[in-house]
Amino acid sequence: MAGPAVRAEGLRKSYGPRMAVDGVTLQVRRGECFGFLGPNGAGKTTTMRMLACLSSRDGGMLEVLGLDPDRDPRRLKALLGVVPQEVNLDLELTVLENMLVYARYFGMPRRLAHERAMELLRFVDLHGRAADTVVRLSGGMQRRLQIARALINDPEMILLDEPTTGLDPQARRLVWERLRDLRARGTSVVITTHYMDEAERLCDRLVVIDHGVVVREGAPAQLVRDEVGAEVLEMRAPESDAARLAAATSPRHVVAGEVVLAFGDDSDTMRRAADATGITWEMVAERRATLEDLFIVLTGHSLREGGTG
Ligand SMILES: Nc1ncnc2c1ncn2[C@@H]1O[C@H](COP(=O)(O)OP(=O)(O)O)[C@@H](O)[C@H]1O
Ligand SMILES: [Mg+2]
Repeated sequence: MAGPAVRAEGLRKSYGPRMAVDGVTLQVRRGECFGFLGPNGAGKTTTMRMLACLSSRDGGMLEVLGLDPDRDPRRLKALLGVVPQEVNLDLELTVLENMLVYARYFGMPRRLAHERAMELLRFVDLHGRAADTVVRLSGGMQRRLQIARALINDPEMILLDEPTTGLDPQARRLVWERLRDLRARGTSVVITTHYMDEAERLCDRLVVIDHGVVVREGAPAQLVRDEVGAEVLEMRAPESDAARLAAATSPRHVVAGEVVLAFGDDSDTMRRAADATGITWEMVAERRATLEDLFIVLTGHSLREGGTG
């Protein structure tokens, strides 16, 4: 099938007076791993739910795998795998039973469902736990089971809402590996995350989203290079001098009280410019620019602070 995996134009959704998604425009290409990066409350889940036929939109155009989720949910659901933000497994049933219940939903014959379920449990390294009730699994295992279950219908695209939130580093890595495998097989992958390292590692392209609006769209490294530069100089200076120090150090900077973040292509040059001001300043850090810096430059606040500021 031709055309992008997702095409959204001016997508909107509000809850009462609150505009959760306020005119989102983006395109996901077939076969890529695409990310929604933004703090809590940015509108990631609301957007994801509209893509996944889990909630209707208030306005705008939306096409997922060539279909309109509001008009053609049944056909679209057959082509999608969905891992929602919350754990929605049946905790009283076994791992295998959870898989089979889902297969029945897609009308798969029993034998095929069983074969496919075991194959997918192997894929997420849970085949040894097939007979265990889900309540006995760790958080990371439950997440992997949700991923396996979302793949039962061999979807063209999988949508995952914060797939690794709350997982320990090892469990996160396992999920990342599986998502990379899926992408390598040609499955389109869309994830939401507020972890910039996750977005940086996994995503071919992403949108930075804040307050229900897409702030930027592009490849992570390219976005950082274009908007931030290669290097960051983190300095501390008396609050009364901070703004002047920042302005002299680099045209791209953020000031928060005594802390100055200066962004540029070369930190030596920035350091010399800072020294030339005669202001007494203290080095906090000198490092490579990341998506977190991009986020600060674009929104004026960090991912951890959240989008309410
Ligand atoms: N069911 C709901 N009822 C009312 N407000 C909601 C509901 N779901 C989300 N919101 C609000 O919409 C905004 C976006 O939320 P959400 O899409 O969950 O953001 P994210 O997933 O990026 O954390 C937030 O301000 C949130 O409080
Ligand atoms: Mg969310």
